[in-house]
This record gives sequence, structure tokens and C-alpha cells, in this order.
Amino acid sequence: MSGARFHNPGWAGNTGEFDLTEDDVRGAGYAGELPPEGRHPSTAASHPFQLVERDPAAPLFEGPYQERFEKIRSRYPTAMAALLPALNLAQELRGYVSPETMDEVAELLGLGSAYVRGVATFYTMYNKRPVGRFLIQVCTNISCNLCGADEVLAAFLEHTGTELGDTSADGNFTVAEAECLAACGFPTCVQINERYFEDVSVADVPGILARLKSELNGGGDTAPTPE
Ligand code: FES
Repeated sequence: MSGARFHNPGWAGNTGEFDLTEDDVRGAGYAGELPPEGRHPSTAASHPFQLVERDPAAPLFEGPYQERFEKIRSRYPTAMAALLPALNLAQELRGYVSPETMDEVAELLGLGSAYVRGVATFYTMYNKRPVGRFLIQVCTNISCNLCGADEVLAAFLEHTGTELGDTSADGNFTVAEAECLAACGFPTCVQINERYFEDVSVADVPGILARLKSELNGGGDTAPTPE
């Protein structure tokens, strides 16, 4: 992998095409290598990586993740300020942030448990329970809603065989509603893990799911590396 992947990876453009794979976006191979040589320490924390295969019992933190945690801690003047990226790192490893994980992060940072729980539960970006390998968040806010977001959401639920917020039996998909994803010009916007899919219609849904499944099987497009 090259440093070029640090450019805005989630942007899919307005064409409805999505030619980046999860690996392109998530860059799982970077674990422990962040920040890359010569880059600012903040890059250890500024990318919302999420591993496809998470381990809810993964230790906080060991090996390369310990390095990243220490880089994060060194980046901020106080432990409180380092809390959000530390929680990001925990979620990257475990897939969600349980109350026990919040307590562990609190202990690592020397913060109060109640404080950490208050912060972690404020943000919807932290999964409070396990999610599928792909977390599909359909924006149903006003712009997308006017353009058929409810139908897109229903199509994802139907084709994954799930109920809202639940995970498919194969562990691959969790479908959820999202508030405005700040891509109102390209409704319906759907965020899947770290990728944005824009201009999504009901007809696109089967193809998107097939694409995701193929990525799990080692398929996917051979996307050009962004400049
Ligand atoms: S309303 Fe859907 S991205 Fe803003």
C-alpha cells in the first residue's frame, strides 16, 4: 500500500459508481504502521478504520495497537482530548464499544468511567453493540427522504433479510438509519463502513450487496490507487 490512500477515500463522486474496495478504504494493512514514516502523529487516529473481522475480546492494546495508542496519547495535551481517537481504536479492533470496553479505555487513559461512558454514548459513530462485517447506514434525512430513502432502506432490509438494526444470520450485514451524511446533493446517500455510496436507488441495492459479498470472498474491483 502507498501513502496515496490517505486521500479522502470515502468519496464516491456523483456518478453512483463505487470503485474502491473496503481494503482500499479501510487499509487494514496499516494496523500498527500508523502514522507512516514522516507523517504527523495525528494520522494514527484520524482514519476510521474498521477491520472486517473483529475480535470483541481483542486486548486493549497490544503490539502495533499499543504503539498506535501511545501515538494517539502523545498527540493530545490531556487524556480527555485523546478519548475519541482511543475509542476509535478500540472499536476498530473489537467492532463495537461495550460498557466493559468503555471502562477499559477509561482505565487506560486514567479517566472516570462515567465520563467515558457519557462521551461514548453521545456519539452514534460508536457502535454500542456488535454489527455485521458491513454496517449499512441509509440516510433518511430530508433530502434523501424526498428522493426515496425509505424505499432504499426497505430494499436493504429485504435483500439482507434483516430487521432495522439487526445483523443478518451470516454476520455480514447490519442495516441502520442515519441522520444527514452531508451528501445531500446526491440522494440517497448510504454509508457502508467507511465508504459513501451516492445516488443510490432501490434498483442499485442488489448490485451493491453482491459487490460487498464478492469483496468478502476476495473479489472486488481492482480500483486504481488514488493520487
Ligand atoms: S439528507 Fe441525506 S445526506 Fe443529507
